[in-house]
Amino acid sequence: MVASLKGGVGKTMVTAEIARAMARRGLKTGILDLDYSAPNIDVVFDCRDKKPIRSDNSTVIPPEIEGIKIISFGQLWPERTAVMTEDRQVDSEDLQRAIDLIEAGRPENAIQYLKLLQEHPGGTIEHVQMLLQPGAIDWGDCERLVLDTPPESGGIVRIVAESPNIFGAIVVCQPSRVSLADAIRTLDLFRKKGTPIIGLLSNQGTHRGEQRYDLTDEHVFHLASEMGISFLGAIPHENNLGGYFDIIVEYIEHSSPRVLPQDTVADTEWKPVLRAAKTAGAFIDLLNKLMSR
Ligand SMILES: Nc1ncnc2c1ncn2[C@@H]1O[C@H](COP(=O)(O)OP(=O)(O)OP(=O)(O)O)[C@@H](O)[C@H]1O
Ligand SMILES: [Mg+2]
Repeated sequence: MVASLKGGVGKTMVTAEIARAMARRGLKTGILDLDYSAPNIDVVFDCRDKKPIRSDNSTVIPPEIEGIKIISFGQLWPERTAVMTEDRQVDSEDLQRAIDLIEAGRPENAIQYLKLLQEHPGGTIEHVQMLLQPGAIDWGDCERLVLDTPPESGGIVRIVAESPNIFGAIVVCQPSRVSLADAIRTLDLFRKKGTPIIGLLSNQGTHRGEQRYDLTDEHVFHLASEMGISFLGAIPHENNLGGYFDIIVEYIEHSSPRVLPQDTVADTEWKPVLRAAKTAGAFIDLLNKLMSR
């Protein structure tokens, strides 16, 4: 799984490029895009119109694009539409139940029932849990499945992190103070859930050799070593990234993802302490102190 609690750091790009590099190695590869509200894998692979189909026994069969089997919420939701969890669509059973109540002379109960559905939408989680069920999607002879996740920690990422079938998590981060702080949170989530971590990837730190953020790729490297996890590399801001991902996938194929011990990250106090840092150097020093506690 590719994850970061922070949005826009390159999760979808990393998911797509890892899958492409795996396919180039001859591995039968699939992508499951679990970004529910802003799915992008369908855009990256230009596959909005290639819908999954349902087999006779109701499993979902993914379409294949660039030799990769792809399931994205983007193929499922209507285009140009904001899907909100509170907008849970009532299914025919819900409606029948409401109609039954109205016909039984209890319209107020029907309204109460529909309001309850509104207050407890549960749509996102239910959908994702459904897709993660073994057999829900017919991945055929897929050997590797790369999961793109939304920038959050509450629902989807937590559920996937808890899944015993996850080989490992790749955390994407940009070399900036804010992104590093969120990478620490992301790693903490995986620590709490006991999710094996493949490593930390620094993205878009440089463009044509120029630094793009307030920190450098080295800071991300430093964080990875402090946490005792692998640094997967520094991806520049560039157009053709395939070569980098061939190397990263070579590494992933031989890696043994690591579960962080329960006491690696301070559970509390670290945020106000880091806020006190005035310079990148001070920030890193404080980070080091926190990590060694
Ligand atoms: N190394 C890179 N070089 C050039 N462009 C990049 C690179 N990494 C990401 N991008 C671009 O930056 C934008 C954001 O990346 P992406 O969509 O992968 O981030 P994300 O973490 O998936 O975002 P979200 O949290 O919204 O899902 C995209 O337009 C993507 O193509
Ligand atoms: Mg994304």
